[in-house]
Amino acid sequence: MSTRHGVFVTLEGGEGVGKSTAALRLTALLREAGHEVVATREPGGTPGAEAIRDLLLNADTELTALAQTMLHFAARADHVARVIRPALARGAVVISDRYSDSTMAYQAYGMGVEIAAVDALIRLTGLTPDITFILEVPESVSKSRIKSRGAASDRYERMDAEVMARIAQGFRAIAAAAPARCVMLDGTEPVEVVVARMRGIIQERTGR
Ligand code: TMP
Repeated sequence: MSTRHGVFVTLEGGEGVGKSTAALRLTALLREAGHEVVATREPGGTPGAEAIRDLLLNADTELTALAQTMLHFAARADHVARVIRPALARGAVVISDRYSDSTMAYQAYGMGVEIAAVDALIRLTGLTPDITFILEVPESVSKSRIKSRGAASDRYERMDAEVMARIAQGFRAIAAAAPARCVMLDGTEPVEVVVARMRGIIQERTGR
């Protein structure tokens, strides 16, 4: 296992909470401050993991919830080994748009895979973020943001409201169980406000 000098930040939340825009702006702010930032995403982040992403998001390929879980962790194992750990060993700030908490919220809380099974895979992966920002918006906001994207909806954007509600509840449970790592943020605030809070918390907790 590599020695860790960098900072590992993850952004989490349901659909249309504004994570990806926030990740872009946070990356820019940290770079302006002179930090090496590796901005990445899950599922994805390496050629192999991006290939798995295509399979996972394609709603026409039927996959059980457990099969999806294992594919998310297969992608993650490659991403952690090839991108995240080497970047942390160099001292970089890694910002990942989604990570293991998404599997816990979507596949366990949302789709009914055993929490203990996801926990076991998280332990196997062996890398916990230093700070996790969880963005939340009301369901109506999430729905209208998904709709306004206009693109054909993927497997997860097609989930019904009940599953989406369980996912949101899952993220709240994750945050409550790990208060030293997780910070819940209101995704209805202007993105500048959300990102300024993230920047402040990173500085406070890590000195970066
Ligand atoms: P995104 O790029 O819009 O965040 O798309 C990734 C989708 O994959 C999103 O709908 C959430 C879903 N997902 C899971 O269900 N489990 C996971 O472990 C991860 C990383 C993502």
